[in-house]
Amino acid sequence: MFTGISACVFDAYGTLFDVHSAVARHAKRLGGCADAVSALWRAKQLEYTWLRSLMGRHRDFMQVTADALDYALDVHGVDDGALRDDLLGAYRVLDCYGEVPAVLGALKEAGMRTAILSNGAPAMLESAVRHCGITGLVDAVLSVEEVGVYKPDPRVYQLAVRRLKVSATAVSFQSSNAWDAAGAAAFGFHVAWVNRFRQKPERLPEPPHAELRTLSELPPLLGL
Ligand code: LAC
Repeated sequence: MFTGISACVFDAYGTLFDVHSAVARHAKRLGGCADAVSALWRAKQLEYTWLRSLMGRHRDFMQVTADALDYALDVHGVDDGALRDDLLGAYRVLDCYGEVPAVLGALKEAGMRTAILSNGAPAMLESAVRHCGITGLVDAVLSVEEVGVYKPDPRVYQLAVRRLKVSATAVSFQSSNAWDAAGAAAFGFHVAWVNRFRQKPERLPEPPHAELRTLSELPPLLGL
């Protein structure tokens, strides 16, 4: 059990929002390559964040997401500008995982502060939060755009400490992205890895302090 927690900070993409819900909405138009496009889109999106940070060539997450989609469509020989625009549009209004509103509501009810800390650009985060109907359940939506570098750079996790005015040890950080969980643990947060798809653990320093199947397991982890 985590103790001494006053703020719950959530990764956005993959943790609260289902990144594959964009392709799912237009799967028929992609035919047999829909799943492969979605997987490559996500993989390239993350790879480009890491590479741009290492290169010192930051662009916001909407640009990186568009670049990664263009790469994935190119690999699969999909040349359809309207479909590309529809997929990018869908990324701005992703669905959240089913348990998310109830879990955030329970945390708020228990007096916990809640925040999103994400690679996402502010406008895309705001529109996804609104689309999922969780605006009133999140106290702060924090974007890496404030620091101009992507996760897992420690400056990103520091942003949450600075903006929420809490110590790192009073934060429970939740991410479905195991590499993000590792970065957050290295920074000093209590970290719960939301392993939705029974993935194998990463071979990285700083393993998570707890492993959850869905966010429904978070309130009990915090003794709520
Ligand atoms: C985010 C990415 C890591 O929301 O999914 O920050």
